Amino acid sequence: MNASHFVADKVASVDTSGIRRIFDMAATMTGPLDLSIGQPDFDVPEPVKQAAIEAIRDGHSGYTPTRGLPALCEGIGAHLGAEFATWDPELMVTCGVSGGLLLSLMACLNPGDEVIYGDPYFVSYKSLPHLVGGRSVIVPLDDGFQPDPERFAAAITPRTKLILLNSPSNPTGVVHEAARVQAIAELARKHDLLIVSDEIYNLLSYETRSPSPVDFAPERTLLLRGFGKSYGMTGWRMGYAAGPSAVITSMMKIQQYTFVCAPHMAQRAALTALETDMSATVRAYGAKRDLVTEALADKFEFVKPQGGFYVFPKAPAKFESGTAFVEEAIRNNVLIIPGGVFSEQDTHFRISYAADNEVLTKACAVLCALAD
Ligand SMILES: Cc1ncc(COP(=O)(O)O)c(C=O)c1O
Repeated sequence: MNASHFVADKVASVDTSGIRRIFDMAATMTGPLDLSIGQPDFDVPEPVKQAAIEAIRDGHSGYTPTRGLPALCEGIGAHLGAEFATWDPELMVTCGVSGGLLLSLMACLNPGDEVIYGDPYFVSYKSLPHLVGGRSVIVPLDDGFQPDPERFAAAITPRTKLILLNSPSNPTGVVHEAARVQAIAELARKHDLLIVSDEIYNLLSYETRSPSPVDFAPERTLLLRGFGKSYGMTGWRMGYAAGPSAVITSMMKIQQYTFVCAPHMAQRAALTALETDMSATVRAYGAKRDLVTEALADKFEFVKPQGGFYVFPKAPAKFESGTAFVEEAIRNNVLIIPGGVFSEQDTHFRISYAADNEVLTKACAVLCALAD
């Protein structure tokens, strides 16, 4: 029986065909040089693993409070207090940053309310507002993949409810300049908007700290951070949200009836993660960034990433689109993602350099040969 008529129109209209075609092609590859994966290639630090194992052995298997374990909330609060001295947000533990994104949009958007964000964008930004009845207003980032406050200002309408920022960024690895974040914070203040700041890669910023809208408009910033990318535990589904009390309280109301709570054993492990020094890993990722950008520099046009683990180069001019280049790369055993997955334009491609250095070197050589 064809059951497609049971599916709601707004879900059926979410288009995942582009990425599906690429992964269908990828399924035919043997031993691909895989630069497609948006997760760290390092293992969870041993003390964090031990904390999860002990949590299970000690029987911490039941629900936690909806907000999260009090000790974890306290630990997160202490970290935020050290970074943002005068900020006193409400906070809650979420099921990854994805959980925080969904809850925040469900909590804040009335039907037809608009969310402004830059292009290129993280894939879920385009679907989530739509799925909860809101509307995406997509503004091209500038040539350096920085948000242009004037373009954001021009996109504001009486229906604008929030601005979504992401730094360090997926798919570009760009860290926003402080002056841009400040100008957008002022814009939000002038038009009474909420800023949702997706800072999932905040620990993976190589040269400088990634500026946060909390620095400029703490009263109207909802900060979303996660443990997955920073500690190699993406499947443990751990993140947190911090921000205005009315917003967090509403998010908790929805969490109570949906996710209920983040995984208990992972919350206990996250407490250990908060105390774990990841600076050596961050340095190793900085070195991978250098390896890849040096290998591609002569053949590709790109903005040098300052954080995360992605580069977003332009496809060589001889290919008609980003997708055409990616298909050729896949035929040559290198798996990358077409830029059209993250953008209204199909002109670029995304490399994830969260991979073994030998794989990175070989894959970059193939890409350079294709560009010749
Ligand atoms: C920018 C950005 N936000 C959110 C997420 C989702 O993170 P999580 O796995 O914590 O739900 C990702 C994952 O790739 C991401 O790149």
